[in-house]
Amino acid sequence: MENNNNNNNNNNNNNNQDDNGIKRKRILLTTDLHLGYDHLKELSNVVYKNAQRFDMVICTGDIANFDPEEAGDVEKVAACEGEMSHALSYLENIDKHLYYLPGNHDAKTTLSKDDKPRLTTYSTNLHRECIRLEDDLVVMGLGGSVPGYREGEQKWVGYPYTNEDDLNRDLQETYETAKNTVVSGGDNKTLIRDGDSIILLTHVGPHHSSTTVDQFDITVAPLYSGSKSISQFIIDHNEDIFLNIHGHTHAAVGMTTTGNTTIINPGPLKFKCYGILEIEKHFSQKWKVTSMQFKRL
Ligand SMILES: [Fe+2]
Repeated sequence: MENNNNNNNNNNNNNNQDDNGIKRKRILLTTDLHLGYDHLKELSNVVYKNAQRFDMVICTGDIANFDPEEAGDVEKVAACEGEMSHALSYLENIDKHLYYLPGNHDAKTTLSKDDKPRLTTYSTNLHRECIRLEDDLVVMGLGGSVPGYREGEQKWVGYPYTNEDDLNRDLQETYETAKNTVVSGGDNKTLIRDGDSIILLTHVGPHHSSTTVDQFDITVAPLYSGSKSISQFIIDHNEDIFLNIHGHTHAAVGMTTTGNTTIINPGPLKFKCYGILEIEKHFSQKWKVTSMQFKRL
């Protein structure tokens, strides 16, 4: 497959400002597809039958079912890329502004910094990337997971991050690079500017959030699957990050807040969950979440 030249100027170009100076975006949220092709077909049909329109589609990872222990098997990695392409093509047909992350069950190649494979014509892999959507709105992404723990014992393997330090290094580097990269000629404007509203897309969510605590079985202690580094990053940039969308924890669907940040886990499409999110910006105010619907097929 050809390389995906993730274009940091690949902005959405949907200017939804109305006559009252209000900008809106309507976003379809999906995560944890796990190759649920039937559910992808059903989602496409629901969107089509109801004549739904979206400004973009977001998918926060675990598109496939790859076993990280087989990451060295080139043929299996290539096969997984093909499966991911197939799954993403359903979402891309809903809206070509498709932004996705690889999770811990996706092809190793899609979790690289450079030379990511281009899986579909229009989709953008946002792992360790940041792009501008509007004059004052950027989206920054980090895929993969850290380990999950129950009563201090590791229960879920993290991939590609086996510890918080490695995830934190990539998270900080992605942010710092965007803060220091000049993207437009002549005016010295950087990719992330002071005053921007930031959407943080991650596969694994923040440690402190109810959306990452798996207590599917209430007879056993909860499993904590979130990242402490992502928690701290949200706290450190709380004025700017107004929204964190993540997946990974199938049994912790929901929404919560940390200061100015709304944290959303729309739930796994594998189990027929998806979300419809609306964000708005009024005049010179910053962007904010105005509605979130948790839907089931
Ligand atoms: Fe995951």
